[in-house]
Amino acid sequence: MLKGRTAVITGASRGIGRAIALKMAQNGANVAIIYVGNENAASEVCKQAESFGVKADYYQCDVASFSESQSICKKIVADFKTVDILVNNAGITRDNLMLMMSETDFDAVIGVNLKGAFNFTRHLSRYIMKSAAGRIINISSISGMMGNPGQANYSAAKAGLIGLTKTVAKEFAVKNVTCNVVAPGFIETDMTVALPQAVKEYAGTAIPLKRMGTADEVANAVVFLASDLSSYITGEVIRVDGGLCMNTH
Ligand code: NAI
Repeated sequence: MLKGRTAVITGASRGIGRAIALKMAQNGANVAIIYVGNENAASEVCKQAESFGVKADYYQCDVASFSESQSICKKIVADFKTVDILVNNAGITRDNLMLMMSETDFDAVIGVNLKGAFNFTRHLSRYIMKSAAGRIINISSISGMMGNPGQANYSAAKAGLIGLTKTVAKEFAVKNVTCNVVAPGFIETDMTVALPQAVKEYAGTAIPLKRMGTADEVANAVVFLASDLSSYITGEVIRVDGGLCMNTH
């Protein structure tokens, strides 16, 4: 489905990003794996991707840094020659109630989740525009669509990603580059493992499909948006949330 294309995936050493990188590779895409801290995990994802017969490499980069992102993007282009697909997946949470949220925690979450997507899109888009079927996919969250107590920073960043996506979709349409959002709900990853039991129980009752989702189920939507199957979809938000947010969308 993605044979011969090159995909750059941020935050791909674990969780949803890892699942996206491996599913892309399984479908024939070469993959550039961006990680920030755990080199061993990134190298392991790289080996697994290569086992599908594609080219893969891993790069350390703090996506929140404009200059670091720029030099890594240059390196990726030098190594892979072309870039067709960008998945802005890297994300962090620093939850606290609005009245107690620190400036540091607000800035950190905006920096990785929102500015990180700006940085990679800014530095790679001129190459993606050369692709016959360029794709940019931003991983937002249902928190950005409906708000979530304790997540003013995260909801703002994830809502911002939706605005960024719609603007990029309009600006890049002339080059046949599509830009879409995948908005996961509660997904079983390291990010949600620490959630209080009460929140997990809420997930079990409030989610129409009565369970949390898997990283693989998010990756399925991303691969669809990266493929030719989605050629007439741009500026769209696809929720992968078991139906949790359907009434507010
Ligand atoms: P995770 O915490 O397992 O993975 C996040 C990845 O981002 C890690 O690989 C981490 O190293 C990377 N990362 C963090 N800061 C970075 C930085 N400064 N530069 C580069 N990479 C950095 O989280 P998970 O669950 O896999 O989340 C992936 C995306 O999905 C995130 O954007 C998250 O906000 C979003 N999401 C997750 C949900 C869930 O329930 N797990 C729900 C909704 C959205």
